[in-house]
Amino acid sequence: MTTTAEELREVVRLRYAESARAVTEGRSGDCGCGSGSCCAEGKSDGRDFGEALYDAEQRGQLPEAATLASLGCGNPTAVAELREGETVLDLGSGGGIDVILSAKRVGPTGIAYGLDMTDEMLALAQKNAADAGIRNVHFLKGVIEQIPLPADSVDVVISNCVINLSVDKPAVLTEIARVLKPGGRLGVSDVVAEDRLNPEERAERGSYVGCIAGALSKSEYIAGLEAAGLEDASVEFTHEVADGMHGAIVKARKTEAPAAKGLPVIQAAAKAGCC
Ligand SMILES: C[S@@+](CC[C@H](N)C(=O)[O-])C[C@H]1O[C@@H](n2cnc3c(N)ncnc32)[C@H](O)[C@@H]1O
Repeated sequence: MTTTAEELREVVRLRYAESARAVTEGRSGDCGCGSGSCCAEGKSDGRDFGEALYDAEQRGQLPEAATLASLGCGNPTAVAELREGETVLDLGSGGGIDVILSAKRVGPTGIAYGLDMTDEMLALAQKNAADAGIRNVHFLKGVIEQIPLPADSVDVVISNCVINLSVDKPAVLTEIARVLKPGGRLGVSDVVAEDRLNPEERAERGSYVGCIAGALSKSEYIAGLEAAGLEDASVEFTHEVADGMHGAIVKARKTEAPAAKGLPVIQAAAKAGCC
């Protein structure tokens, strides 16, 4: 029997709902890794995923439950250069760790949104943000393939080990391009495969819900970002999590509006033979 995209997404949701419940109830989780991370298969010893990827200073800014719920494969807040007053969106925000850190970075004049499809994760993130005393956060329920925010509304999109779990990656990348403001940035941590591995070989190295089998290859990621209309796309491997599979930093940018590049709109219109 083949699994449909909806069924696969439901398997992912159930897995992360259980992970959130484990943290909420003070259990270590059933994911088979010291840190309680579900994204910890392959050759990982627990240091490639989760809270170990944050430095002591950042961990010190967080409630314990937020660090325990950390299931990422990198630290997008260290990748994305966040500025005072900006609007940040975290795709698949889980227990809220990157939303809380981003909210502190953008300050009270900025906003940090977290988007997640799993009620249990959203509840955990709300509690963690309240415990951290953070007010400039909004957690949204929804799927990253259909982001519930208007076009051109976000300065920076971040995400930590979630895009590999999507059942429709082109839709996610198109949605990122839609919600980013002109000149807006993407700074993501994700698991990415070397180009030599075909999808079957990726699946041999770990499960879909464990963030391995659904990973894009480096070339596929860059081609997907470019097809979505983003520019300056790059993928940089940071640490190997299974044979040929890496934690990676993925970056891209949305093109500036012509006027912002120094070409006044009126000149651009005249050049195009308009008016
Ligand atoms: C591996 S965890 C990462 C959580 C968080 N980013 C972190 O670093 O701790 C994946 C999270 O993404 C959410 N998720 C997975 N697929 C999603 C989708 N298609 N739409 C929205 N949320 C999704 C899950 O509910 C879960 O909270």
